[in-house]
Amino acid sequence: MKLYEQVADELRQRIDQGYYRCGDRLPSIRALSREHDISIATVQEAYRLLEDQGLAQARPKSGYYVRPRPATPAMPAISRPAQRPLEVSQWEQVLDLLCANEEPGILALGRGMPDIDTPSLKPLHRTLADSRLAGSRSFAYDSLRGSGQLRQQVARLCVDSGCQLHPDDIIITTGCQEALSICLRAVTHPGDVVAVDSPSFYGTMQAIKAIGLKAMEIPTDPVTGISLEALELALEKWPIRAIQVTPTCNNPLGYTMPEENRRQLLSLAQRFDVAIIEDDIYGDLSYQFPRPRTIKSFDSDGRVLLCSSFSKTVAPGLRVGWVAPGRYGEQVMHMKYVGTGACATLPQLALAEFVAQGHYQRHLRRMRAQYQQSRDQMIAWVERYFPAGTRISYPQGGFLLWVELPGDADSIRLNERLLSQGIRIGPGPLFSASGKYRNCLRLNYSDKPSERIERAVQKVGEEATRMLLELNRVA
Ligand SMILES: Cc1ncc(COP(=O)(O)O)c(C=O)c1O
Repeated sequence: MKLYEQVADELRQRIDQGYYRCGDRLPSIRALSREHDISIATVQEAYRLLEDQGLAQARPKSGYYVRPRPATPAMPAISRPAQRPLEVSQWEQVLDLLCANEEPGILALGRGMPDIDTPSLKPLHRTLADSRLAGSRSFAYDSLRGSGQLRQQVARLCVDSGCQLHPDDIIITTGCQEALSICLRAVTHPGDVVAVDSPSFYGTMQAIKAIGLKAMEIPTDPVTGISLEALELALEKWPIRAIQVTPTCNNPLGYTMPEENRRQLLSLAQRFDVAIIEDDIYGDLSYQFPRPRTIKSFDSDGRVLLCSSFSKTVAPGLRVGWVAPGRYGEQVMHMKYVGTGACATLPQLALAEFVAQGHYQRHLRRMRAQYQQSRDQMIAWVERYFPAGTRISYPQGGFLLWVELPGDADSIRLNERLLSQGIRIGPGPLFSASGKYRNCLRLNYSDKPSERIERAVQKVGEEATRMLLELNRVA
C-alpha cells in the first residue's frame, strides 16, 4: 500500500468507527503532515482518494469534512425459516455451484472466492517455489495435529480475536469444510438436531445432511445475527446437540453479531449444555479494527469449537484450515484421522512462513480496504440496476453481498437464464435446508470493480426486472 493510501485508510477507519461523524471537520493538511511526518502533497493525495471514495468533501478555505452518506438501501427482512428440524435438501444446486470452476468464460458472481491475483500474495508464490521447502521434508507425513510451525503462527493470530491458545490446542485441517464436518461428527450422533443461523453456509448444511443430522434453522437478523429469543425457544422444544453459527462477517448475510449477543449465546449454550461450532473463516476480513472477538474468546468450559481457514483470507486452493476443539479434542482428532489423516505438508510450511514474516498482516490490511471499497461500489450498482424494492445487505467484512428481490422473483430460474449470458449467481435456496430464499441471491465483490463486472451486474438486474414483468403479466 502506498503512503497516501495508508493515510487515507486510517482516516476511513476512523470515519467508519464513528470517530469522525457526518459533517465533522477532518484534520487539516498541515496537522496530518506533521502527525505522520509526511509531505503536504502526500496528505493532499490521501484526501483526493477519500473524495473519490465519496467519504470526504472539500469546502473552500475551510478544509475537508466527512461527507454525509447517501441514504442506505433497505436491508433484507429478518428470516422466517420453518419452525421444526428438517432434513437438508438442495445438494444438486450446491453441486452445480461447486463445479462452476470448470466453466470457461463464465463470470462467477456467486462464488466464494477471494481476490487471489493481488500482489500482496507474491511472497507466498516465492515461498512455495523455495527449494528448501519443496525438499524431502514436505514429502513426509506431517503430524496428525499439523505442522508445529503453523500451529504456533495460528495461535498467535488468534490473540487478535481475544483467544489465548497454545499451539497444542489447535489441529490443522484440510480447509474449514473439514474442520466443520469433523466437529459436527465429534459432538453429535446420527438423528440429532443442530441449530443453525438462516440463511446459512451451504457447506455446513450439506455436512449436517451427510452425517444424518437435522437442521433447525433459526430466524436471523441481517444486522445482529441469530435471534437469541428464537434460539432459546428452539432449545426448550427440540433435542438440539450443537449450535453452528458464523457470527463475524457472516456468509451470506455479512453481519457481525454484537459482543453482548455473543456472550448471551454462550450463556444459552451453557444453560442447555450444548456445544457451539463457531465458524470464523471471514473474521480476519472484518472492516472493523481491531477485529471482533470470537465467541471462543469468552469460553470458560471448552464447549466452543472454533473453525477457520486461510481460504478466504489468503487462497482456497491451499486447503489449509484449523480447529481449536476445546474439550472435544480427542473426538475431533479421531474424526480427522479417519477422514483425511495428516494434511499436505508443503502448503502448511509455506503459510507458516508467510505469517511469520509479517506478509499475512500486510496482505490483510490491503484486502480489507479493497473489499470495503468494492462493497460500496457493488451496493451502488445493485441499487442502480436492480428492480425497485430490492433489499441489500450491508456486509461488515468479507466480500459477499446478499440481495433480496421483490415479489415472486426466482433466483434459480434467474441463474439459468443468466448462464446463457455468461454469468453465474449464487441462488438463495442453497443457503436454506428447505429451499427457502428463492427470491434471494448472493453476489461476490472480491475482484476490483471493473467495467466487465458492472456490465454483468447490470445484466443480472435487467434480467430480474424482465422476470418480474413477465410474472406480473401472467398474474
Ligand atoms: C462460512 C464458510 N465456512 C466454511 C467454508 C469452507 O471453507 P474451506 O474452503 O476452507 O473449506 C466456506 C467456503 O465457502 C464458508 O463460506
